[in-house]
Amino acid sequence: MGLPRVLSGVQPTGALHLGNWLGAIRNWVDLQKDHDTFFCVVDLHAITVPHDPDRLARDTLSTAALYLACGLDPERSTVFVQSQVVAHSELCWLLNCVTPLNWLERMIQFKEKAVKQGDNVSVGLLDYPVLMAADILLYDADLVPVGEDQKQHLELARDIAQQRINARFGNAETSVLKVPKPLILKEGARVMSLTDGRSKMSKSDPNEGSRITLLDPPELIAKKIKRAKTDPERGLEFDNADRPETDNLLGLYAILSGKGRDAVARECSEMGWGQFKPLLAEATIAALEPIQERYRLLMDDRAQLEMVLQQGRQRASSVADSTVRRTREAMGFLGAS
Ligand code: TYM
Repeated sequence: MGLPRVLSGVQPTGALHLGNWLGAIRNWVDLQKDHDTFFCVVDLHAITVPHDPDRLARDTLSTAALYLACGLDPERSTVFVQSQVVAHSELCWLLNCVTPLNWLERMIQFKEKAVKQGDNVSVGLLDYPVLMAADILLYDADLVPVGEDQKQHLELARDIAQQRINARFGNAETSVLKVPKPLILKEGARVMSLTDGRSKMSKSDPNEGSRITLLDPPELIAKKIKRAKTDPERGLEFDNADRPETDNLLGLYAILSGKGRDAVARECSEMGWGQFKPLLAEATIAALEPIQERYRLLMDDRAQLEMVLQQGRQRASSVADSTVRRTREAMGFLGAS
């Protein structure tokens, strides 16, 4: 038995933020120790909303550099670009043809994003979760480490594998596709906006003050935290539903300072915002500094970065191609001679 397999990805749309890091990438780094890990930059997903072609390749490369800067090790993990492994598009098509339309129409993220797009909703936006299912199922992933917002997409991937592929095209002894499980850790799974503690931190929020990106310089981090929404009460506490901003900022401090929730709850129980915010800014700047430093070095050696992605592409393709072959066969396609 090999190590359990893990797959996950982030879209290269704009700079990654604390939510992407704490909800996803930080956990990937731990998993690579005792799992067979695959991490892709999901550039095909990035074009499901209108995109700028001049930025796509640049953002894809910079997202890959951030993966490595956050601690992914290409010796341990397969790091690759989704569009460079053509099997993703092919499996997506096969899955499309067995996925009921109404399963996609009820996806929460589709409904939210479709509202923002107005008259300009692409078929790709509706199909987003099927492509995501293809990403996961191609690698026979056991676990998919993601933030809380991806839970419904993971359930869809499981349903497609189980009900629409294995039940129809598999047999009692062998299933065609492995049914994956989400891995959503409690801590960091839902980092909220700095300007509204009831909505999640998001790349698509037009207000840049709502998020801290992994590449924000120290002064900007301090400024965003200084302006973050708070409440008039003194004494900071977790888990008070009437104080979502407090819970979020305190939670960030607990993770970023490395002190943990109990110690932070004690430290801040009597504190006012004027004392707390500089502490949070300091912890955030210190946590991001080594990532920013490594990122700069990686971006200065583009050839090396491209070599990592090339190697990742080869490793990923060999696994993905065999899954597509298996699925094609199970679905009855004429084999290639
Ligand atoms: P994306 O780029 O929107 O988000 C990437 C990861 O970051 C997590 N995340 C958050 N976690 C905590 N708090 C937040 N505020 C926050 N915002 C984002 C997301 O849960 C995600 O884990 N659809 C995926 C991309 C994808 C994918 C895949 C993931 C495509 N194919 C296959 C796993 C496996 C997404 O949300 O991207």
